[in-house]
Amino acid sequence: MQNVDVTDRVWEHLLAIRSGKACACCGGTWSAGERGALDLYAPLARRDLGPVVVAQIGQSLDGRVATVSGDASDVSGPDGHAHLHRMRALVDGVVIGIGTALHDNPRLTVRLCAGPSPARIVIDSKARLPDDAPVLRADGTRSIIVQGVDRPRPKHVEVLRLPLIDGKFKPETVLQVLRKAGLKSLLIEGGGITIAHFLDADELCRLQVAVSPLLIGSGPIALTRSIQQAKLADCLRPDTRVFGLGSDVVFDCGLTPAAHAATVPQHPARIGVS
Ligand SMILES: NC(=O)c1ccc[n+]([C@@H]2O[C@H](COP(=O)([O-])OP(=O)(O)OC[C@H]3O[C@@H](n4cnc5c(N)ncnc54)[C@H](OP(=O)(O)O)[C@@H]3O)[C@@H](O)[C@H]2O)c1
Repeated sequence: MQNVDVTDRVWEHLLAIRSGKACACCGGTWSAGERGALDLYAPLARRDLGPVVVAQIGQSLDGRVATVSGDASDVSGPDGHAHLHRMRALVDGVVIGIGTALHDNPRLTVRLCAGPSPARIVIDSKARLPDDAPVLRADGTRSIIVQGVDRPRPKHVEVLRLPLIDGKFKPETVLQVLRKAGLKSLLIEGGGITIAHFLDADELCRLQVAVSPLLIGSGPIALTRSIQQAKLADCLRPDTRVFGLGSDVVFDCGLTPAAHAATVPQHPARIGVS
C-alpha cells in the first residue's frame, strides 16, 4: 500500500498537469507520500491520454453506504471527503443519479481543496429533480440534466434529452453527448445503481472504492449489480493499486488497458527528502 501525502506543492503540480502547464513525469523531487499522491491523482489530471471515466464510491468495511434510516453523510472519514473533492477538481464533469440528487441534495462543488468546480450532471430519466435543487443553483458552474422526457428547466440549466431503451439510457450515449458538450474526463460519483450501469456497460476506465473503518450492519450496499457468476474464476478481478489516505483506504482499480498505461511512470520516480 502506498501512503498519500497531498502537500500544497504536489497539489499545485497536479492542478498544473490538469491545465496542461506541467507534465506528469517531471516537476521535482518528491517525498514518498507526495509520489503516492502523484500516482493516485495524475491519471485523472492528465489530458494527454484521451477521455477518462472514473467512478468512486465510499463504503464501510461491510460494504454499506448508509444506515437503514438513510444516514449517509459520513460513511467516509475526513480524508475520504477531501479525496472526493480532489477528484472533482481534476475532472471536467461529475455525474450522479437522481437517487443521490434527491436523497443527499449535494452541491457537487469543490470546497475542501483548491481547484475548479466541475460541471454537474444529473441522470434523471423521468425529470423528477426540482428546479430549486442545490445542484442546479445558478452559481457560475454548469448544471446539466440528462432527461428522457420533456420538462422545461431554468434558462441556465442545460438539458440533454436522450432516448430511453427499456426505461434506461445507454451509458455509451450519455458519454457521447457529454463529450460533445466538451466534458472529456468524468467522475461518476454515485450512487451504486448509476455506477453499476456504467460498469456493466464496460464504460469505466477506473473504479475507486474508498473503504472507511466502520461497520454499519444493515443498510444499502455500495455496488448493486445484476450480473451473476457461478464461479469466482469468472468474476472481474481488476488490476488494483491500494492507497492509504489516513482515515480511509482507496482501492484504485484499472478496468481498461489505457487505465493501466496511465499508471506506469514514464521516468523512474525521483524520491527524495524535501
Ligand atoms: N458513499 C458514496 O460514495 C455515495 C455516493 C453517492 C450516493 N450515495 C448514496 O447512495 C444512495 C443513492 O444511490 P442509488 O444507487 O439508490 O441511486 P442513484 O445511483 O443515485 O440513482 C439511480 C437512479 O438514477 C437514474 N439512472 C441512473 N443511471 C441511469 C441510466 N443509465 N438510465 C436511466 N436512468 C438512470 C435512475 O432513475 P429513474 O429510476 O428515475 O429512472 C436510477 O433509478 C443514497 O443513499 C446516497 O446517499 C453514496
